[in-house]
Amino acid sequence: MIDISIDKEKCIKCGACIRDCITYSIERDENGFASITDKNNSNCISCQHCFAICPVGAISVNNISPEEVLGSNFPNSEDVLNLIRSRRSIRQFEDEEISSETWEKIKEMLPYIPTGCNYNGLHFSIIKSKHCMDRIREYVNAKILKLISNKYTKNYAGKFVKFKKAFENNEDIIFRNSPHMIIVSSDIKAPCASVDPIIALSYIELYAQSLGLGTCWCGFAQACFKLMPELSNMTNIPNNYKPVYVMLIGKPAVKYIRITKPNEFSISELNEINDTKLNIIQKLRRILLNFVC
Ligand SMILES: Cc1cc2nc3c(=O)[nH]c(=O)nc-3n(C[C@H](O)[C@H](O)[C@H](O)COP(=O)(O)O)c2cc1C
Repeated sequence: MIDISIDKEKCIKCGACIRDCITYSIERDENGFASITDKNNSNCISCQHCFAICPVGAISVNNISPEEVLGSNFPNSEDVLNLIRSRRSIRQFEDEEISSETWEKIKEMLPYIPTGCNYNGLHFSIIKSKHCMDRIREYVNAKILKLISNKYTKNYAGKFVKFKKAFENNEDIIFRNSPHMIIVSSDIKAPCASVDPIIALSYIELYAQSLGLGTCWCGFAQACFKLMPELSNMTNIPNNYKPVYVMLIGKPAVKYIRITKPNEFSISELNEINDTKLNIIQKLRRILLNFVC
């Protein structure tokens, strides 16, 4: 909940804050000035769009005046595209921890990550010390090896079975010897609980790589959180939070010299709406597809 105040001495009645407020928490008063209608903040989602958009800085939030914050500033699109194109999944890391200053930079970025309805129901478990990472690594790898070595339990280990040799050779195919990882969990009540962590990790990935760090989305580790509920406890995930995805992070031990030529995605560019009617089978198929994944 935030405290919004509007300085009527400064307000120029432009209505920008009113038009941009999705919860109708601001209206014009009888003299045309912007005025908070939602006094109890019951609908306000604390997005601060009113604060960000006001051309004359008439709005303050939580007693922070517009003069105290930075003006918005976009990098040029070529730099952004280059970052997206140059980012690689890093699977070879230096045996070295990330510095505290770099962690601080990452933590400073986190609050800027958008969440559905601005609910902010995310928890970031940052495995900061390498010895914690090593304990998780040893625990998980031993458990997976045990599962896949037993004919009665190997089916639970799913895709790990085909890497039996690697597990027996003590290769860390799950965590790639990374010194750290970040697990992002969602409050199960969050309106966009399955999507928010993915957005968060996308932001983390790009920002981390711009800081010279290596990252790797880790579906293998995510599968381990499903297989081993005790991992949620070991990594301090709060009760009622679900671990959604995992990213390995550390200093890269490799450098990629060139960008790749990736496969293309399927794209529909619509200038007309497809008006053909679905028959019942097609309709059911669409409905079912919407429920898978
Ligand atoms: C959702 C997701 C899960 C992934 N899981 C793993 C993983 O468990 N282990 C791994 O080595 N790479 C993993 N990757 C990395 C992909 O294999 C990688 O993105 C792909 O090979 C293309 O390489 P690039 O990211 O360098 O372009 C994952 C990527 C995504 C997006």
